[in-house]
Amino acid sequence: AVVAKIAPSMLSSDFANLASEAERMLRFGADWLHMDIMALCPQPDNRSSSHREAYLDCHLMVTNPLDYVEPLAKAGASGFTFHVEVAKDYWQDLVHQIKVKGMRPGVALKPGTPVEEVEGENPVEMVLVMTVEPGFGGQKFMPETMDKVRALRKKYPSLDIEVDGGLGPSTIDMAASAGANCIVAGSSVFGAKEPANVISILRKSVRD
Ligand code: DX5
Ligand code: ZN
Repeated sequence: AVVAKIAPSMLSSDFANLASEAERMLRFGADWLHMDIMALCPQPDNRSSSHREAYLDCHLMVTNPLDYVEPLAKAGASGFTFHVEVAKDYWQDLVHQIKVKGMRPGVALKPGTPVEEVEGENPVEMVLVMTVEPGFGGQKFMPETMDKVRALRKKYPSLDIEVDGGLGPSTIDMAASAGANCIVAGSSVFGAKEPANVISILRKSVRD
């Protein structure tokens, strides 16, 4: 059985107060902290943070993910999820490197990328099915991406399947019933009056 993981996307947080924002989300019941890694953005650091060691679910939105393996491992990243589109010829090798550094490898698929792209010899522990075009928070959930979630869930009953983009109380049921168990939510959590309520609604909707 899969376990629900609710991962507020720190891209929607107040960057000037990243540590206290992280602390607040953990207090509100977040399981993971989703960190969107772009060329110029706050980098996670589990060593210097005041809060308890959190699961840092890093989503690499860069074109050179290999260059980030070492620095993110040093910074205390837990999950390292990269886009298969930018690592087509070497993604299996990258998965290996991530494991060697003690992180959990994940592969992300843009809305237009088929699931066949992530089938290989060296299994990943998570597939991230993007439910918007990667870039920024606050975009509209794309229901057509659920076909990929269903196909993956059918084939891999215990794989972590993450969805990212446009998730909130009004879209969670589509993702949960398709088989997603790791739920990233940026604007719906950070924009809520009571983020803890949103986190709990999201968690209750995921089936195990
Ligand atoms: C989008 C990022 C997401 C983003 C999600 O490219 O990968 O993690 O922060 O934000 P919402 O939940 O607002 O769509
Ligand atoms: Zn993301």
